[in-house]
Amino acid sequence: MRVVVTGAAGDLGARVVRELTSRGHEAVPASRRTGVDLVSGDGLEAVLAGAESVVHCADDPSRGDWVTVYGTRRLADAAAAHGVHLVHISIVGIDDHPLAYYRRKLRAEQGIAAAGGSASVLRATQFHSLAASFAQRLSFGPVTVTIGDLAFQAVDTDFVAERLADLALGPRPAAYARATDVAGPEVLTLPQVATLLRAQRGASAPRVVRAPALGRAMRAFAEQRNVPAPGTAQTGGRTFAEWLATRPEH
Ligand SMILES: NC(=O)c1ccc[n+]([C@@H]2O[C@H](COP(=O)([O-])OP(=O)(O)OC[C@H]3O[C@@H](n4cnc5c(N)ncnc54)[C@H](OP(=O)(O)O)[C@@H]3O)[C@@H](O)[C@H]2O)c1
Repeated sequence: MRVVVTGAAGDLGARVVRELTSRGHEAVPASRRTGVDLVSGDGLEAVLAGAESVVHCADDPSRGDWVTVYGTRRLADAAAAHGVHLVHISIVGIDDHPLAYYRRKLRAEQGIAAAGGSASVLRATQFHSLAASFAQRLSFGPVTVTIGDLAFQAVDTDFVAERLADLALGPRPAAYARATDVAGPEVLTLPQVATLLRAQRGASAPRVVRAPALGRAMRAFAEQRNVPAPGTAQTGGRTFAEWLATRPEH
């Protein structure tokens, strides 16, 4: 099967390409470095012609609505016009989350639904790399600052890539459809993530300082609105500690 992968050079997209190729399918990379720009539309029609599915992993949160909302809508319209099944990666817990990027991801999903083509939307929790970077940014020497009950059910990007490949190669829905959310196998608080990161370099557990959540977005994280309700997500992939063991020291 011929499957286009947007953002194929990115963290997730590269894994989707590897997964599709290892299953014997043709993965066609599409991003600016291959001449496809979702904002201008350059190269988009040409790359979709003859494809069965497109897995949409391209994004650029630093550009506001441009790639996340408008680029996704442009892709959804083009996929619908070409009869290509769109498989889109989104984020768990965005329905009522005040973080600006998460609100954009919700509008991106709404744009896909409005485009009216065959589309599968997979929401994933934060990737392990993002949980690690949160913990690093909130750690200052031996001290880790945490906010409320800040926690992650972070997921292995390889597991997400496998599910995206399953959707791209599987039966296509008639219109917009949400797949079962995906998440990692365990919930870790921010201090637990920081402890694992420090243990990797032989350091003891951090001293934890609790800070108030400032602003609505931080409060939403402090209330664990990024963590799926028990039993609602398909869980799998490596644990954070297993993932960390394969990484260079943080
Ligand atoms: N990180 C997380 O914890 C997490 C959790 C759940 C879901 N997600 C979702 O996963 C997706 C992928 O994240 P990622 O971290 O793998 O992204 P990434 O590594 O930043 O890669 C994004 C890719 O998008 C391409 N791109 C940017 N602007 C473009 C444009 N105008 N037209 C075409 N391509 C463009 C870039 O390639 P070029 O430079 O070649 O254009 C880049 O390689 C995002 O949608 C994100 O919301 C992430």
